[in-house]
Amino acid sequence: MPNWTDLGTAQDFPPDAQVCTHATIDDGKKQEVVVFNINGELHCMANICPHAGLPLGDGERRGLTITCPYHGYTYNIRNGSDLDDPEFGLPATVYPIRVEGDTVQIDLG
Ligand code: FES
Repeated sequence: MPNWTDLGTAQDFPPDAQVCTHATIDDGKKQEVVVFNINGELHCMANICPHAGLPLGDGERRGLTITCPYHGYTYNIRNGSDLDDPEFGLPATVYPIRVEGDTVQIDLG
């Protein structure tokens, strides 16, 4: 069952944005995420690199990939796959994202 959670407004994520932010979960905890606006399409990943748990959102985006600045692992922004080891590497967490009216929401599941 979807658990759509507000993240901000569409203006918070302008074209070419790479924004580190958080969603507040029902129990008050925060889920740190990074949101990308790539050619007008929004994408959302957990701001946690699966390799060692450091902030993936500090990385450099190229097209639909992001490279973690800490040890250089590269992930597919759309599906989170580890591009250095697609078969066995730990994927990054990605969240469905949508715009409802002017509100950007992610599905925390
Ligand atoms: S923490 Fe990201 S590559 Fe190591």
